[in-house]
Amino acid sequence: MLFIWKAQAYIYAKCYYDLYSFLLNYQLNVNFTSQDRLSLSLAQTTYSGGDTSLFESISGDIVDKGYSIRPYALPTNLTSLLSQHIIELPTDEFKRAGIGRTKDHMINDFIRTDAISWITDDSEAGCAWINWAESLQAYLNRRLFLGLFSFESHFAHYAKGDFYKKHKDAFKGEGNRVLSVVVYLNPHWASSDGGELVIYDKNTPSSVVVDNSKITVIPSFGTIVVFLSEEFPHEVLAAKRDRYSIAGWFRLNNSIANNIDPPS
Ligand code: OGA
Ligand code: MN
Repeated sequence: MLFIWKAQAYIYAKCYYDLYSFLLNYQLNVNFTSQDRLSLSLAQTTYSGGDTSLFESISGDIVDKGYSIRPYALPTNLTSLLSQHIIELPTDEFKRAGIGRTKDHMINDFIRTDAISWITDDSEAGCAWINWAESLQAYLNRRLFLGLFSFESHFAHYAKGDFYKKHKDAFKGEGNRVLSVVVYLNPHWASSDGGELVIYDKNTPSSVVVDNSKITVIPSFGTIVVFLSEEFPHEVLAAKRDRYSIAGWFRLNNSIANNIDPPS
């Protein structure tokens, strides 16, 4: 356990050290490439506590409805960095996604067919993403007292035909996933490209003619979706072309007595 803490402390320290050296270089007026400038403005937007008005909108939506859908809202430089990173990730970094605790591949194929790669902060893109998510976490904790304690997330790739059937990200009393966040990294997504996220909102009455209880989200570049993990069943319709996204979860602290157990 101590080892895990030490390892995490090291990773965080490294992440901030990278930023620190980066800003130091800036002050020393080292010659800049345009890539550096992009990274610096990225660092400024993502490390300086985040985008308050965006976080406030997300927070308000969660209070009102339990979910938030914000089209094209992720800072463009962060979205570009992530989308570049995900398409450059070697194929063998992606593993077929599992479901819950089952290892049965037959069931797996029936429920979801996407491939995932867990995000760590050993890439610039991973680091920037985790910092953005942690700024959101801190904001929501201050504003809504949610007690979010940790964050985990993965890149996801849905190839043509891939889907994820209706599911919930957490079940009451079982896990400690509280809030789900999804962002999309697909430039120029047309509605004919499929791959929509459908969220089922039990509070919105459905009618026979138009099913209002279904909320359909097009997975466009920079669109952010946040929802309470235990409240909203959702599914990903079959994509008709490569579909890239990030799915992440904020967790509560799963501590038993004095035994703090950060999820690995
Ligand atoms: C998930 C998920 C939604 C999406 O990974 O659990 O529901 O739109 N993803 O990618
Ligand atoms: Mn899900």
